[in-house]
Amino acid sequence: MTYSIPKGVYDILPEDLSGKELWKESRRWQALKTLLRSSAETYGFEEISTPVFETTALFQRTIGENTDIVSKEMYIFEDKAGRSMTLRPEGTACVMRSFIENHYQQRAYAHKLFYIGPMFRYERRQAGRYRQFYQFGAEAIGQAAPEQDAEMIDFLYTLCARIGVKNLQIRLNSIGDADCRRLFKQALVDYLAPFKKELSEESQKRLETNPLRVLDSKNPKDREITEGAPSILSFLQSEAREHFEAVKNYLETLKIPFVIDRRLVRGLDYYNRTVFEIVCEDGASRDSLGGGGRYDHLLECLGGPNLPAVGWAVGLERILQALLAQNHRFSKKRGPFLFLIPLGEESTAYAFSLLKKLRLNDISCEMDYSGKKLKQILQYAHRRDAIFVSVIGDLELKERTLKIKEMASGKEISVPANEAEKHFLSLKQCYDHLP
Ligand code: HAM
Repeated sequence: MTYSIPKGVYDILPEDLSGKELWKESRRWQALKTLLRSSAETYGFEEISTPVFETTALFQRTIGENTDIVSKEMYIFEDKAGRSMTLRPEGTACVMRSFIENHYQQRAYAHKLFYIGPMFRYERRQAGRYRQFYQFGAEAIGQAAPEQDAEMIDFLYTLCARIGVKNLQIRLNSIGDADCRRLFKQALVDYLAPFKKELSEESQKRLETNPLRVLDSKNPKDREITEGAPSILSFLQSEAREHFEAVKNYLETLKIPFVIDRRLVRGLDYYNRTVFEIVCEDGASRDSLGGGGRYDHLLECLGGPNLPAVGWAVGLERILQALLAQNHRFSKKRGPFLFLIPLGEESTAYAFSLLKKLRLNDISCEMDYSGKKLKQILQYAHRRDAIFVSVIGDLELKERTLKIKEMASGKEISVPANEAEKHFLSLKQCYDHLP
């Protein structure tokens, strides 16, 4: 019996042997996560980690019963006590649950939290969509000012640019407050009603359950019909309009390239006012790399304090795939700094103690004890991208020297054994400075 990976998920591996899905290589993920964490620190965000499952009701209440996520895509299971649990489809609701439960409002008047972790959605299988995918998300809680929206959008844009994604663009819209959204929804339904039969099956359903989502349908006929639909922007009331104008002005000050996309409504129900997504204009990623918006009533709706908030999340798979599509130059793969090849028992004992000392000094090294032929061992060391190899035989032991060979150049040097440690430490410093 053989077992295979479930559909819609993937392995992150040390090396992609097919050469076709390099985004799955773990060193790229590690580099990305390191950059994400350091950028978060620059913008003043602190890390939060919540469980991968929560009560089902949390997501139903926050994301919305009529959204695709809640109505079709959640991984729901009953635990042994018969409680309904769900693998988190996104991070915002979880962070808000934790914020309330840990009384975080007492800590300060403003809070900046970020998270990295897997999310789960049972999506139809297609490029760039996975059933387990990784998000990096940032949530700023406590500030209603448009400056906070602008700072968050700047963070999103700058982060993607710093990672190396090119041709980025922010798509921006405002979906106003509840009152104007109600009026707009009615106007939209009135406009779409005569076209109902021409709409795609999906949009016909959405017209009944969640009419705003008809606007972001990708179906060409739907798009043709919605082209003439009323714009939510002309329904904004004065406060929401002023807020939106201020956000746009700040983005111009910050030189963030953005376009107004009046169709952008987002697929989760908790948003109000500013909504945005980040895309690659050159089509390096078919879908958006990330998105978010303001959600001023979510905490209160969960029984928490009445605090405004704004946040976003990016998909790590999509970022890595966009980088590869744009031929981004990732840093070279690094193998062990030193690969020791002892020949015989006495050499092995010596190599072991040297290995231990070097590792305690943070030098990555390995030792062979396969007993294979020297040629095969050297091929293995090469395959592992070792920088130096050192063969320790009887002669080296007798003469108390180490012969160190640089794999790339084939150059060899001899070092007195009692100076080996010192020598490797200074060698490593030179190599650490290389790009
Ligand atoms: P979202 O737009 O549903 O927003 O997801 C954000 C990002 O997660 C997407 O732009 C995409 O990069 C990635 N993503 C979503 N679904 C998949 C999938 N099936 N496969 C691969 N990547 C995917 C949210 O989740 C909100 N919680 C964002 C937010 C945070 N809003 C406020 N704060």
